[in-house]
Amino acid sequence: MPSNDNSESHTMKLGKHILVVDDVIKNIKLLIVHLREAGYEISFANSGKQAFISVDRHQPDLILLDINIPEMDGFEICRRFKSSKTLANIPIIFLTADGDTGKIEKGFELGAVDFITKPFRFKEVKARLETHLAFYEVKQQLEIRNEELQNAYDKLSNTQLQLVQTAKLAGIGELATGITHELNQPLMYIRANTQMEVKDGLEGLDPESAFNTLKIVEEGTDRMMNIINHLKDFARISDICFLPVNMNEIIEKSLILFREQFKNRNIQITKEFDQNLPEVVGDANRLEQVFINLLSNAKDALSGVKKGSIHLKTIQCKEKSKENFIEVSFTDNGLGIPESKLDKIFEPFFTTKDVGRGTGLGLSVSHGIIKDHNGDFVVDSQEGKGTTFKIFIPLDSGE
Ligand SMILES: Nc1ncnc2c1ncn2[C@@H]1O[C@H](COP(=O)(O)OP(=O)(O)OP(=O)(O)O)[C@@H](O)[C@H]1O
Ligand SMILES: [Mg+2]
Repeated sequence: MPSNDNSESHTMKLGKHILVVDDVIKNIKLLIVHLREAGYEISFANSGKQAFISVDRHQPDLILLDINIPEMDGFEICRRFKSSKTLANIPIIFLTADGDTGKIEKGFELGAVDFITKPFRFKEVKARLETHLAFYEVKQQLEIRNEELQNAYDKLSNTQLQLVQTAKLAGIGELATGITHELNQPLMYIRANTQMEVKDGLEGLDPESAFNTLKIVEEGTDRMMNIINHLKDFARISDICFLPVNMNEIIEKSLILFREQFKNRNIQITKEFDQNLPEVVGDANRLEQVFINLLSNAKDALSGVKKGSIHLKTIQCKEKSKENFIEVSFTDNGLGIPESKLDKIFEPFFTTKDVGRGTGLGLSVSHGIIKDHNGDFVVDSQEGKGTTFKIFIPLDSGE
């Protein structure tokens, strides 16, 4: 006979908390006594409705659930628990009077972790409870650790984003110098030539010379437009965008901002590009950012060097271990990096440059970008002789 009197939950504050749901208290009285003796906190409910009230109040670590409860049976109660976001994780063990395999299968399908058949063998019940409670605890701890890890990862990603922004800001100085030099040169050339044509007035205008000047204007403005268009592309704020890219072309683009500066400083650029270089899947903007950083570093390392040179090379790797990689290398004959500093250069904020001349973010951000392409970044340097940076990118970098 159903017992209505004790529908309100009863608890004793001991150890783990177990909710027992059964409509006939008499059937489970002995079980409750044994569990309490074993040190468990027990609450019980005699209906589905009471079970939900009790779960809200006591947040049990495990639920023992009878199948045959009138109105809302154990299966329905189980289904509702499992469809609730906050309650779905609580392990449910069904109590059943018979060994009906159909019912057992249905219970497992609904998400139960175990079955206990009546009459209860208390040693066995205790052993099962301990196993599932221990498992539940480990699972909960794993979930907490997972959440902590996810939070830490989100924080790191955020910091990295901020670093990239800072590096972009730091790069603005570099960019501004580049733009000034690159635009100034054709502008001066156009100005000098047009001034000469205009000087003698309309009467003195020689059609052939005027035509040559117009050609100079056309060439000069083409170059300026090229630089401006390129800057527009580069400055575009974009999410990571992986597409098939040709590394030779990206390196050529990264050189646009340095042409005049290198010329002014007598820095010679030599190229050894593999003309059959396969495309890789990559983010062209970010890869260009890497190459601009490398060129900017090489430029700084070459200040004070009389015959400065930068050798740019691309090749599809031949060695077995790197068969499906392409290799890009930047070699300068600048001041080099002392061995004691080699393992620090990729660290954020490591710089040997004067305050205001370098943030120390160039290489760390570049390293991050290459890692995003599943690639490798290697440095080889000899103090006083020069430095080579090698980048390896897998052909299937975007997969
Ligand atoms: N080609 C190179 N030759 C010699 N030293 C280099 C070269 N490239 C990098 N380094 C060393 O590595 C350090 C870190 O480089 P990184 O690009 O990260 O920062 P930075 O150039 O100092 O500053 P930023 O790039 O933010 O303007 C440099 O300060 C320099 O000491
Ligand atoms: Mg740098």
